Amino acid sequence: MTYDFDGKVAVVTGASGGIGRATAIAFAASGAAVVVSDVNDAGGAETVEMITAAGGKALYQHCNVGDAAEVKALMARAEAAYGRLDFAHNNAGINRIGSDEYQDEAWALSLSVNLSGVMYCMREQSAIMLRQGKGAIVNTASINGLVGNGMQPAYTATKHGVVGLTRHGALRWAKGGIRVNAVCPGVIETPMTAPLAANPDIRKTMDSLTPLGRMGEAREIAAAVLWLCSDEASFVTGHPLVVDGGATAF
Ligand code: NAI
Repeated sequence: MTYDFDGKVAVVTGASGGIGRATAIAFAASGAAVVVSDVNDAGGAETVEMITAAGGKALYQHCNVGDAAEVKALMARAEAAYGRLDFAHNNAGINRIGSDEYQDEAWALSLSVNLSGVMYCMREQSAIMLRQGKGAIVNTASINGLVGNGMQPAYTATKHGVVGLTRHGALRWAKGGIRVNAVCPGVIETPMTAPLAANPDIRKTMDSLTPLGRMGEAREIAAAVLWLCSDEASFVTGHPLVVDGGATAF
């Protein structure tokens, strides 16, 4: 599904691979100019190449979302380069599977990237979108933003926090013409899950945990993000949209 996003501008964080790359490519395929950002510069450049090779418009800017100044510079670059900001996918995130998130460093890093990063992004994006009187923000949470995960306190808490920030933003900026939603993916095949999925036994377990019997694809999350940004979702705001193959349907 493509939309008519000609003349629109989208920014995607964590767009060097996985879900962010798929969303950046989908925005561009619908005609939007895309600001691709990440801390992985090589991957970001590759995403831009993929977009431009297909005839789309994109540029790359390095941005650690845990750094408020870098986030401010990213949104300023989007506006300077393309004149406006219509859509934002605040997607950068870390999930240090197997690490002990009760350790101070792991806890602090997760909060910085997964939670503060989304707040910094929303703060800068809303300022631009309020001036325009219109905009759509989608934050990547997780099914762990809605149900618990007994292994990972920081991932669970930060993703619940992203859902909270989403609801807050929706209420705060509704009258200003900004819709704020979240996407809550289940288990998706991306570089984040690749180390686990590479083990055939673990892969089998991961597939079987999802009622549809498989891991999701990044493009299936991108499709949800684009719909939430489009005018087709004009009455949808403050919603954490679950895209999980039924994993939370039990
Ligand atoms: P990924 O690891 O491919 O993508 C995450 C991206 O964020 C990477 O490109 C990474 O370089 C970037 N990143 C990491 N720290 C950053 C920072 N400080 N500033 C800017 N960028 C940074 O994994 P995936 O799966 O595409 O993850 C995207 C989002 O989806 C994350 O927020 C993740 O928590 C979420 N998610 C993923 C699920 C999955 O099963 N793959 C399930 C539920 C949520």
